[in-house]
Amino acid sequence: MATKKWSILVALVILLISMEAAIAQGQGNGNGNGNGNGNGKGNGKGNDKDKGKDKEKKKEKVPKKKSPKEESSNSEKLPALESGQERAFCKAPTSSCHFKTLVCPSECKTRKPKKNKKQKGCFIDCSSKCEATCKFRRANCDGYGSLCYDPRFVGGDGVMFYFHGAKGGNFAIVSDDEFQINAHFIGTRPQGRTRDYTWVQALAVMFDVHTLVIAANRVNQWNESVDSLTVKWDGESVTIPIDGEAEWKTNTDEREVVVERTDDTNSVRVTISGLLEMDIRVRPIGEKENKAHNYQLPSDDAFAHLETQFKFKKPTDFIEGVLGQTYRPSYVSPVKRGVAMPMMGGEDKYQTTSLFSTSCKLCRFQRPSEDSSTSQGLIAQY
Ligand SMILES: *[C@@H]1O[C@H](CO)[C@@H](O)[C@H](O)[C@H]1NC(C)=O
Repeated sequence: MATKKWSILVALVILLISMEAAIAQGQGNGNGNGNGNGNGKGNGKGNDKDKGKDKEKKKEKVPKKKSPKEESSNSEKLPALESGQERAFCKAPTSSCHFKTLVCPSECKTRKPKKNKKQKGCFIDCSSKCEATCKFRRANCDGYGSLCYDPRFVGGDGVMFYFHGAKGGNFAIVSDDEFQINAHFIGTRPQGRTRDYTWVQALAVMFDVHTLVIAANRVNQWNESVDSLTVKWDGESVTIPIDGEAEWKTNTDEREVVVERTDDTNSVRVTISGLLEMDIRVRPIGEKENKAHNYQLPSDDAFAHLETQFKFKKPTDFIEGVLGQTYRPSYVSPVKRGVAMPMMGGEDKYQTTSLFSTSCKLCRFQRPSEDSSTSQGLIAQY
C-alpha cells in the first residue's frame, strides 16, 4: 500500500517537472545578446552585477544594491538535446526560476564552445531573469568590476574611477577574509608631468596557502598572434593548452582552479571555485594611444598590460582594496562625479611591499598561519 502511494507521488513530481521544462524551454529560446562577459560555466549565477550592457552608464550611476549571496551551485546539468543544445535544471529555491529547465539557444549550443571558446558561449541564468542567452566570454571594460586602461575601474557600485598608484608599485586591489588580489603597476612619467601614467602588468591572487599569478610579458613589438601571457601556480609556470579543452586545471584541498583560453592568444578566464572569476586580456599600448595621450613611451616597449573584469562569488560586507571596497553594501563612493577623470585616492591604505605581500593598512586577508599546525603538533605530543 505504502509503495503504491509513493509511486503515484513520484509519477506526479516527474509530470510536474517535465511540464515546467516544456514551458521554460519555450521561454529560453532565441535572444542572443552579443555583449561581453557572462558566466558561461553552467552553474548559472544570478549575476546582477553584470549590467555592462548599457554603454553610457560610466559616469553617474545610482549605487546598486547587490544581489543576495550567490549560491555555488543553483543548477544541475542535464543531458544535451539531440541538436547539441545544452540544458540545465535550475534549483535555486529563492528564485522564481526554481525547477525550470533552461535550454541553450541554437546560436550557442554549449557553455564552453570549442576553438578556444572564441564563439559566444551559452550563459544559463537561474536567477530571477531565468534565461539562457549567448555571450562572449571576455572582459567588458565598461562592466561592473572592471580594471582596464591607465587604470580605470568600474566599481561594484557601478561608479567609474581612476587610481594612479605609482609605477613599480604594488597595490591590494581586493582583500577579503578568504583571499587577496594584488596588482603590480608599470608605467612612465613623461617629462614635465607631475604624476606617473600606470598600467596593471600582473595580478597575484592569494588564497589559502596558494598563489596564482597572471602576468603580461614585457614585449618590444606587439604581435597579436603571439601569446604574451604568463600564468604561474605556486611559483611554477603553467602552460594553457591551445587545443582540446584549452584549459589548465588544478584542485586544492578546498577549491578547483581553472584557467581557460577565451581566444587563440592573450585572453583567458580564471575561475577559483567559491571565490571568484576573472576575465583577462593582454593588451599593448598602441602607437595611436601613445600619441593621443602623449605618454611618450619608449619605442622598444609595448607596455603590455592586463584588462580584467572581476566577479566575486560571496564578498563579505567588509571587503577591502582599491576595487574591493566598492562592493561593500554601505559603500559611498568618495569620487567626484561628472568630471572626466574622477580620482580614487588611498594609495597609502592599499600599497603592499611586493606583489605577494598580504599586508597593507586596510588589508583583511591573512594566510592561514603556520603556527596553528605547529601548535597542533605540540598539543599532540603531550
Ligand atoms: C607575428 O607572429 C607570427 C607567429 O609567430 C608570425 O608568423 C608573424 O610574422 C608575426 N608578425 C609580425 C608583424 O611580426
